[in-house]
Amino acid sequence: MFLFRIFLWSVLSFSLVSQVPWIQAQEPIQPIEEMTPKNRNLFELGKMLYFDPRLSKSGFISCNSCHNLSMGGSDNLQTSIGHNWTKGPINAPTVLNSSMNLAQFWDGRAKDLKEQAGGPIANPGEMAFTHELAVDVLESIPQYQTLFQQSFGEGGINIDRVTEAIAAFEETLVTPDSRFDQWLRGDESALTADELKGYQIFKHSGCVACHNGPAVGGASYQKMGVFEPYQTDNPAEGRAAVTGIDADRFMFKVPTLRNVELTYPYFHDGAVWTLEEAVDLMGRLQLGRSFKPHQNARIVAFLKTLTGRQPTFQIPVLPPSSNSTPRPKPFQ
Ligand code: HEC
Ligand code: HEC
Repeated sequence: MFLFRIFLWSVLSFSLVSQVPWIQAQEPIQPIEEMTPKNRNLFELGKMLYFDPRLSKSGFISCNSCHNLSMGGSDNLQTSIGHNWTKGPINAPTVLNSSMNLAQFWDGRAKDLKEQAGGPIANPGEMAFTHELAVDVLESIPQYQTLFQQSFGEGGINIDRVTEAIAAFEETLVTPDSRFDQWLRGDESALTADELKGYQIFKHSGCVACHNGPAVGGASYQKMGVFEPYQTDNPAEGRAAVTGIDADRFMFKVPTLRNVELTYPYFHDGAVWTLEEAVDLMGRLQLGRSFKPHQNARIVAFLKTLTGRQPTFQIPVLPPSSNSTPRPKPFQ
């Protein structure tokens, strides 16, 4: 029996090692895996809800308004615009690859995508609706009744099912096959010499201490401003708002750097518009070092290789409202 175990162990470990190309096994960043919807009906329903502005009071704002899937899952604004043109308090992070985050929001106050998805619908500065009214709207639309039944069976429509469907759709919003991932998988021609040098600087200067794993971030909370304080007018406190602990002030969830080329402007206050400036600030504030212009340019070139294949799907055609659907209130 003992010998058999040793035999089994060596077979298993050999087959594990041989499946992982050597290059990938040694790097602090791993490639993003492809993702196919687990449940097709739920995916289609979640996609419709993600794009449906009738989940907002105005009938005008959908998840896609601020996490635009044509723009890297973000709105490319310093802070978002919500109901009644309300100025948002903080920069909208991308929804791409957000399923890999240890928690959701800059301060991690929602534990997962399902919990997160209820927030914006009822947030007065975002979609400004209530969960009850959103469910009323969906219930008044016969096709939604059918779709919820197909995904969940009996029991009708409720906010728990709405957020579950949206989360199931969001889980598919991954961006595999970036040039950097092709390189990780062993294609050495996938990166130019400058991009590869940029990655080496990124790795050896210490960026990977915080930006690592498949999402190149999203795995920890870290202080913004380790060596020098970050100057900002934005009042966000970071993780301290959740924990109440003073030491957590200015600790933010490390953002993913996947698709970072598409998700400007940068940082929680959206104050920085260029990757060059973001890299320069990160070097000085987080690592206490000033990169020379050619080093900065190489890091930026590397960061642009993290842009992956964007989710592609048919734009959903939303079922029409019925005569009894509550009317939108865009100007209240
Ligand atoms: C008015 C703009 C706006 C709308 C509409 C909106 N969001 Fe957001 N979203 C934001 C902002 C701003 C944040 C960051 C808030 C924070 O961290 O405090 C955010 C955060 C998130 C996050 C967390 C990402 C991360 O990395 O932490 C997810 C996921 C998300 N939104 C999904 C959705 C979904 C799903 C909807 C629709 C139900 C939606 N959002 C509607 C602006 C918006
Ligand atoms: C000590 C941890 C830490 C280190 C080291 C670090 N970062 Fe960051 N990085 C963060 C945190 C935290 C944020 C978010 C800060 C904020 O928004 O206030 C961030 C944000 C960023 C952003 C903006 C992303 C966005 O979507 O807003 C970029 C780009 C970035 N880092 C690149 C780098 C580079 C390049 C290095 C190395 C020179 C580096 N980081 C080193 C923690 C770190």
